Amino acid sequence: MGAFAKGARENGHQVDVVNICQKKIAGCMACEYCHQKESGHERQCVQKDDMQEVYPLLDEAEMIVLASPVYYHSFSGQLQCAINRIYALDKPKCLKKAALILSSGSDHVYSGAIFEYQNSFLLYLGLQDMGMFTAYGKENGSPEKLQELYNFGNRRNIIMLKTEKLNLTQEWDKTFPKSDKVEHRKVTFVNRYGITLAADLYTPKNTEGKLAAIAVSGPFGAVKEQCAGLYAQTMAERGFLTLAFDPSFTGESGGQPRYTASPDINTEDFSAAVDFLSVQDNVDPEKIGIIGICGWGGLALNAAAIDTRIKATVASTMYDLSRTAAKGYFDSSDSEEARHQMRELYSKNRTEIYRTGDYGRVGGCMPLPVPEDAPFFVKDYSEYYKGRAYHVRSLNSNEGWNTIGPLSFMNQPILCYINEIRSAVLIVHGEKAHSCYMGKDAYAAMMEGNPNPENKELLLIPDAVHTDLYDNLEVIPFDKFETFFWGAFEK
Ligand SMILES: Cc1cc2nc3c(=O)[nH]c(=O)nc-3n(C[C@H](O)[C@H](O)[C@H](O)COP(=O)(O)O)c2cc1C
Repeated sequence: MGAFAKGARENGHQVDVVNICQKKIAGCMACEYCHQKESGHERQCVQKDDMQEVYPLLDEAEMIVLASPVYYHSFSGQLQCAINRIYALDKPKCLKKAALILSSGSDHVYSGAIFEYQNSFLLYLGLQDMGMFTAYGKENGSPEKLQELYNFGNRRNIIMLKTEKLNLTQEWDKTFPKSDKVEHRKVTFVNRYGITLAADLYTPKNTEGKLAAIAVSGPFGAVKEQCAGLYAQTMAERGFLTLAFDPSFTGESGGQPRYTASPDINTEDFSAAVDFLSVQDNVDPEKIGIIGICGWGGLALNAAAIDTRIKATVASTMYDLSRTAAKGYFDSSDSEEARHQMRELYSKNRTEIYRTGDYGRVGGCMPLPVPEDAPFFVKDYSEYYKGRAYHVRSLNSNEGWNTIGPLSFMNQPILCYINEIRSAVLIVHGEKAHSCYMGKDAYAAMMEGNPNPENKELLLIPDAVHTDLYDNLEVIPFDKFETFFWGAFEK
């Protein structure tokens, strides 16, 4: 409660903390003294105990934050008495919003308190839920939790708040070994569509002051436990604070329906990561960059084109997902007829999905071993996703997207304004990658009439194929990334 109150006060809010367990507040006697019409004592409680101090606060406040340890699967008895006594006011005059903070010994013990909060405060009193926070065992009072609660209170505009409790794995389940040069912890943040994103935060050890920061995501259909995490951890070893996040609707991030993709929301995911990084005490908000891998390379360029807080962008082995969605691989189905067929299929699928309530799944890589006659890039993908970097939450390692998940990419080009990106951009591609044409074309489009051509670069890596830039530490040009980001941030 203290951390929340500190954040909220520093944000200019008036906060009154009532330490209910130190007060003498009895339960409601149901005498109905408070509800006697034209008695002169309506909305007044007959019991003249410490609740009398609380009533005026309740009537003046816009938001109530209930904070309690979990006792026998619900609120503490003291808080329960105070809640029951709200009965006298019926509905507090100015109250519009509520939030809930719970601590407990064990996990999964919150449903009693949450039930009461949802039914009595959100539904009965008609309050808007601004967030629920829980901490059990060692989480209770931990610096991370206190920071989370401080950030919650400190939001300038308490609208975009976490509404979803995510189940985050605590053990190291990445597809690459943990580095002893960095600290790792999981964090969550919310995008402007209200979707809670899960991320791995990698902080270089033995650093002080404000760090330069980089948010990483991709490839499209991968999870942060795969190469985005490898990139993030490696860049953290080089002194950057980095964040590898799961996109909306995938991995450990929230969002329904699952396995959906959106040119807009996924671009927003990068900006939400920048929101998060910008307010961290140990981050210099003027030194924030992003890295997008594969499909997320294109999304990173779109993010750089709309979000001027992003000072440097790397697009590694990038895809232009709008282009492949609308025109097929290698532009092989670039016709109105082919697009019409695709739209017909998607449209029919929608009705069926709505009828049955089943989104189905489509995609994912081919199982190993891939048939000899399959194109090289199909084999290349499978060996990564099904083989050396298999991950249980990865879409590409498993059943892919929901059947209409990425449908809007075909009608919503994402690279329209990349020639107006003023900040630094590095596009890196393997020369032998099947996707190389997309990197080269994006670079050409970015340079066309660009007001700042001097800070843009295309780096082609001889002999490298698409997934070399996923996890081949001999090929991924981390030295180059480092000099690129420092160069961009120092300007
Ligand atoms: C009377 C009592 C009942 C409790 N009941 C539960 C319970 O049902 N489930 C649980 O996980 N913890 C239970 N606890 C443990 C508290 O929730 C836990 O100690 C709490 O996190 C303390 O929070 P605080 O340090 O913020 O006061 C109980 C503790 C007390 C004293």
